[in-house]
Amino acid sequence: MINRINESTEYIKNELKGIKPDVGMILGSGLGDYADNLEEAITIPYRNIPGFLVSTVDGHKGQFVVGKRAGKTIIAMQGRFHFYEGYTQLEVSMPVRVMKNLGVKTIIVTNAAGGVNTSFAEGALMLITDHINYSGGNPLIGPNLDDFGLRFPDMTQIYTPHLRKKLIDVAKSENIDLVEGVYMMFTGPSYETPAEIRMARIVGADAVGMSTVPETIVAAHTGIQILGISCITNMAAGVLDAPLNHLEVMETANRVKSTFVKVLDLALTIVD
Ligand code: HPA
Repeated sequence: MINRINESTEYIKNELKGIKPDVGMILGSGLGDYADNLEEAITIPYRNIPGFLVSTVDGHKGQFVVGKRAGKTIIAMQGRFHFYEGYTQLEVSMPVRVMKNLGVKTIIVTNAAGGVNTSFAEGALMLITDHINYSGGNPLIGPNLDDFGLRFPDMTQIYTPHLRKKLIDVAKSENIDLVEGVYMMFTGPSYETPAEIRMARIVGADAVGMSTVPETIVAAHTGIQILGISCITNMAAGVLDAPLNHLEVMETANRVKSTFVKVLDLALTIVD
């Protein structure tokens, strides 16, 4: 894996010709358009990058976009990799290590998620305060990559507290409602059952989804600051009397896109 990470890093560095991104962004289902608004953008399709992976899900483009926004240089992933696609969690989280090698200090991770907390509404944006790794895996299983971090990394403050506080404050001052909560990862690709969602609520989850946790564990391992934002695209299974589908997820993500863009812009203004 180290060889693949280094190969991918060298290729991207070469494409960027001295441009150094400070912020990484992982854009989830239906949220990838944000990267179309970066200035002086350089696009790097994943399929061109030696050692990299190729994404397979509808609504994910499969490329890095590097460019400027709100005074920051950003490397955005338009499309991410999921455990349910058959990749290992080591693979799923590999782009975060490539970002680290490129000089990224902070990542902003987004996802679509099902609302478990019954006080949430469809379309709400949730700042992730913590997570529950219910995926049955961990991206750090295997030999420790000492160049990136410790064998037994601390996870007590994985979603960087001072960034969360700042984002809540600026969102409030802009009259944007952000709810806060715990994100619980299930593997997917099947949506959860109502019984699983009742369990999720009992163990302290506010939202459930099929991504993010491998990437944020690896980011925390290597000392990258993290902001995580979930778009509550639907209420989770059994909360409402309605079946779930991917189309609804994409539709809700689309509907709240303009607010999401504002929140991401605000996030860029507060990252140090
Ligand atoms: N469950 C899991 N992942 C999801 C959901 C959900 O309800 N909605 C969007 N991603």
